[in-house]
Amino acid sequence: MGDFNMPARKIIIDTDPGQDDAVAILLALGSPKDIEILGITAVAGNVPLALTQKNARMVCELAGRPDIKVYAGSKHPLAHRLVTAEHVHGKTGLDGPTLPDPTMPLQDQHAVDFIIETLRNHPAGTVTLCPLGPLTNIASAFNQAPDIIEKVQEIVLMGGAYFEVGNITPAAEFNIYVDPEAAEIVFKAGAPITVMPLDVTHKALVTKSRNDAFRDLGTPVGIAVAEMTDFFERFDKEKYGTAGAPLHDPTVIAYLLNPKLFTGRFINVEIETKSTLTRGMTVADWWRVTDREPNAMFMGDIDADGFFELLTNRLANL
Ligand code: BDR
Ligand code: CA
Repeated sequence: MGDFNMPARKIIIDTDPGQDDAVAILLALGSPKDIEILGITAVAGNVPLALTQKNARMVCELAGRPDIKVYAGSKHPLAHRLVTAEHVHGKTGLDGPTLPDPTMPLQDQHAVDFIIETLRNHPAGTVTLCPLGPLTNIASAFNQAPDIIEKVQEIVLMGGAYFEVGNITPAAEFNIYVDPEAAEIVFKAGAPITVMPLDVTHKALVTKSRNDAFRDLGTPVGIAVAEMTDFFERFDKEKYGTAGAPLHDPTVIAYLLNPKLFTGRFINVEIETKSTLTRGMTVADWWRVTDREPNAMFMGDIDADGFFELLTNRLANL
């Protein structure tokens, strides 16, 4: 972490903010020695694209970083109608704090074109993709320009589940469920993939003391993060009956900062696209009961205290 010999890791954050997406973006922005954000690409997911691209810009401005380039991407999943999650995130997707409308511009270029151009302009294996929503933009870029796949250093994504199974249907996690065809393309692409499934994020719970630690930073960022996590707590605590709501997407950025916070298995993960009952399921061969080739580092556990300490410390930089 913050090793001055190591150049900052170049990443593209692909996202559908979403309060937990917002916290992930803030964690990356609070870690400039470790992470260089090449751009933020918005995708339809938690709420429609018009809101996710706007929310991404609001978050950059909250962090005092209007220079970050934000691109709008896919409005719809590859093959099905969009499913959104206002019941979790509120009608803006970022309900909780009162944030001003953004004044920084949205880039003209389409997010998928930005991803393709950026990867083409970098040497092989040097850009990390951080998808925090449905995988539509990433799959579209891989479909249109398969030559860029070798440019990917790693895809670190939030999505799927094995032991926790599903949160939007009994069998599927939201990000994969919204666009399983896209997920299938990404999981079959051949790039190194690290997955933060619900099995990890359901252990990253924003308890009262963790929420207080955000608020006690006393900064606009700390207070906004406390208000965001307060908002979705109302829904999730009732749903899960736990002491706090899971904070999903920041685990992706935390992994880049300190991979030792996580443990998992390198296994085969396939995406169910056909069954009406289990569409969007991540069929993870956790017990290695098939001969299918491993294609993903599928995380199963997190040092939750270490994760929240890292998050709070980095938010304090903003
Ligand atoms: C995922 O779905 C969204 O609601 C969250 O932002 C997260 O990316 C969790 O299933
Ligand atoms: Ca998300």
